[in-house]
Amino acid sequence: MPTARSPDRREAHDLVTASVNRHRAEIVGRVLRSLRRAGSRLARDPATKDQLRAQVTRVLDDTVAMLRSGPHADTAQRPDPASIEIGRQRARHGIHPTEAVQAETALFETALTAIAPDLRQAPEPVDSLARFCLALQRSLARRADLVSRSYFTHLLDQIYHSHAQHRLRLSRELHDRVAHTAAVALRDLELYEAYRVADHERAQARLSAAKAHLQETIDTIRTLSSQLRSTATSEGLQPALVRYLSTAAPTVATSVTVTGIESDLPLTVGDELFLVLREALSNALRHADPGTVAVAVRVRNGKVDATVTDDGRGFDADAALAAPSGTGLPSMVERTYAAGGSLQLRSGAGRGTTVTVTIPLPRRPE
Ligand SMILES: Nc1ncnc2c1ncn2[C@@H]1O[C@H](COP(=O)(O)OP(=O)(O)OP(=O)(O)O)[C@@H](O)[C@H]1O
Ligand SMILES: [Mg+2]
Repeated sequence: MPTARSPDRREAHDLVTASVNRHRAEIVGRVLRSLRRAGSRLARDPATKDQLRAQVTRVLDDTVAMLRSGPHADTAQRPDPASIEIGRQRARHGIHPTEAVQAETALFETALTAIAPDLRQAPEPVDSLARFCLALQRSLARRADLVSRSYFTHLLDQIYHSHAQHRLRLSRELHDRVAHTAAVALRDLELYEAYRVADHERAQARLSAAKAHLQETIDTIRTLSSQLRSTATSEGLQPALVRYLSTAAPTVATSVTVTGIESDLPLTVGDELFLVLREALSNALRHADPGTVAVAVRVRNGKVDATVTDDGRGFDADAALAAPSGTGLPSMVERTYAAGGSLQLRSGAGRGTTVTVTIPLPRRPE
């Protein structure tokens, strides 16, 4: 094999550089077309397409630099804010890492197919091709490493944020509902004591009120505790949803259907989906004043689709997502994205609301 500084190696490097420069635009175009054909989200909207074009160009530049200076080439060592931003945005928009692997494969195959014929003229064609493959692979791996680290860091942040919001909401419920009704019951008992001797009738009324407020406190604690306990994994999605609706909506007409093989749902996906659906149901019951609320979950063709539909008053969903007033909608979106899925809200004044969640399921080992 020629040595690092040999003229043969320099000639091979010049050949690769010229070839990459000549085929650059064609490689970018082919990668985009092949991803578009495969239905990749990376090749769908203008912003991700621009990012992909720039990333392909950077990988090709790194490859050339590594061929010149080895794996520790300057460009390959520099901080890379672009890759970090790409990872963050993909996590934010729910673009699954498998799409990145698909893009890396498309780039590797396309670049190799375009450059390999030119390397036939190199002094050591097989050696030059091997070097080119190695440099391309290293360059792809480096960018992929940065993108995926930033992707998962962002997801972990989202999950942490979502759990923090969940804790906040529980603390708010404890403060606003449990502590509040318990304090009212205490005040009733104090008044009972005050009236006990002089005004028997008023004292009795206070005692009854205290009992009612204590009963309300107990019911609230039971509901909260059942919400904390109930997960889809512990009892299955259908029973968990039915149980939630039986305590939260005893007077509204509700239906829950789960079709497909529920055991195909990984435990974590089932749990996250349950929390998203429960929030959608809670919103329908609290805000929509509905006559009916329906949940439908379908597990099939490697994904789970779920809808929560109410026929209530509806709302401006785009405005609510753009400027959140509560924590429920943002946490539904975050949980769905963190599971690699997508969420759609269709609503409008007087038209009811439909929340649709789709999450692709990981392939089972053959
Ligand atoms: N199904 C629905 N029907 C009508 N309005 C809805 C529905 N879902 C959400 N909304 C509106 O969107 C707003 C935001 O919902 P979000 O779940 O984020 O907050 P919240 O329910 O008010 O409070 P929390 O933080 O306890 O969930 C609600 O206050 C309500 O006005
Ligand atoms: Mg809510």
